[in-house]
Amino acid sequence: MKRIAVVEGDGIGREVIPVARRALEALHPEYEFFPVEVGYGKWEQTGCPCADREIDELKTADAVLFGAVTTPPMKDYQSVVLRIRKALDLYANLRPVKGNGFDIMIVRENTEGLYSGIEEFFHDRATTLRVVTRAGSERIVRSAIRLVQERKGHLTIGHKANVLKSDVLFRDVCTSEAKKAGIVFNDRFIDALALDLLQHPAAYDVVVTTNIFGDILSDVASYLVGGLGLAPSANIGDRYALFEPVHGSAPDIAGKNIANPVAALRSAAMLLSYLGDRNGASRIEASLERVLSQGIRTRDLGGSAGTREFGDAVLREICGE
Ligand code: NAD
Ligand code: IPM
Ligand code: MN
Repeated sequence: MKRIAVVEGDGIGREVIPVARRALEALHPEYEFFPVEVGYGKWEQTGCPCADREIDELKTADAVLFGAVTTPPMKDYQSVVLRIRKALDLYANLRPVKGNGFDIMIVRENTEGLYSGIEEFFHDRATTLRVVTRAGSERIVRSAIRLVQERKGHLTIGHKANVLKSDVLFRDVCTSEAKKAGIVFNDRFIDALALDLLQHPAAYDVVVTTNIFGDILSDVASYLVGGLGLAPSANIGDRYALFEPVHGSAPDIAGKNIANPVAALRSAAMLLSYLGDRNGASRIEASLERVLSQGIRTRDLGGSAGTREFGDAVLREICGE
C-alpha cells in the first residue's frame, strides 16, 4: 500500500490535480491519498504559505503529487515549491519532452545555482549568488548518466562556461564524470543549445544543466510538444520524490475549467513509474494519446473540451481498456 500526498496548491493546480488524482485512484484503489495544503492561498488565510508541519507530512508519503503554487514577486515571500525541493533535497528535476521523432530528457539541477537563496537588497543594488558545487554537480550529472545508460543514448551538457566561472566547474565535473562512465557526450553553450533544441530536437537525448537554465530550457522546449499544458516533471532525491507539471498556477485562466490537465496526468504517470508501476504509467499515457487522437482537446490545443470533460474522457479510456 502506497501513501500519496496530494498538493493542489493554487490556481489551475486546483483543477488539474483532481483529474490526475482520479486517474491514480482508478488504477490504484488501494493507495491512500491525503491532501496537504500549501501555497499563496494558504498564506492569505493563515499568514504562512507552508509550515514545518506540512514539510513533515510530505516526508511521510511514498510520493507527492503537486499542482502549482503562486509565488508573488514580493521581497519577503519565499517560494513554497523551492522550499519543498530544498527541504526534501529533490536535487534532480527530470523534464521529459517527447514527441514525433524526438525523445528528450532535460535533467535540471534543482537545489543550487542561481537558486542558492543567498541574496540581498542593499539600497539600489541587489545581488544573488550563483553557487555551483562539485558535490551538487556530481550528483546531478550522475543522475543524468544513469538515464543515458538506461536509454542507451547520449548526453549534452548545457552551460555558459565562456562567461561564468561557476559553469566552468559545472562543465568540468560533468565532462569528467561522463568520460569516466564511458558514455557518448558533448557540451554546448546554453543559448545556442536552446535554439538548436528547437531546430533539431531529434539530435538530443539527455540534456543536463544548472538550475535556472533548466527552468527556462524546459518551458522553451515545451513548444515542441504543444506548450506548457503538456509538459510533466519529476523532482527526485535519494529519499523523496515529487511529481508536478512544468507549468505554474496560471492565474490568467484559473477557475475557468479550461486548463489542460495533460501535464498533470503525465506527471501522475511519472509518479507510477517511480513507484514501480510502469504498466499503470503506460495506461495513462496510452489513454491520453487515444483521447487526443479522437480530437478531444482543451482550448490551448485548439479544442473546446473543458478540464473536467477532458479528464472524464481519459478516465473512460483508463477504465474501459
Ligand atoms: P504559468 O506556467 O502559470 O503560465 C504561463 C502561460 O501558460 C499562461 O498564459 C498560462 O495560461 C499558460 N498555461 C500554463 N499551464 C497551462 C495549462 N495547463 N493549460 C493551458 N494553459 C496553460 O507561468 P506564469 O504565468 O509565469 O506564472 C504564474 C504563477 O505560477 C507565478 O506565481 C509563478 O511563480 C508560479 N509558478 C509556479 C510553479 C510551480 O509551482 N511549480 C511553476 C511555474 C510558475
Ligand atoms: C518551475 C517554476 C519554479 C522554478 C518557480 C515557481 C520557483 O518556474 O517549477 O519551473 O523556477 O523552479
Ligand atoms: Mn519554470
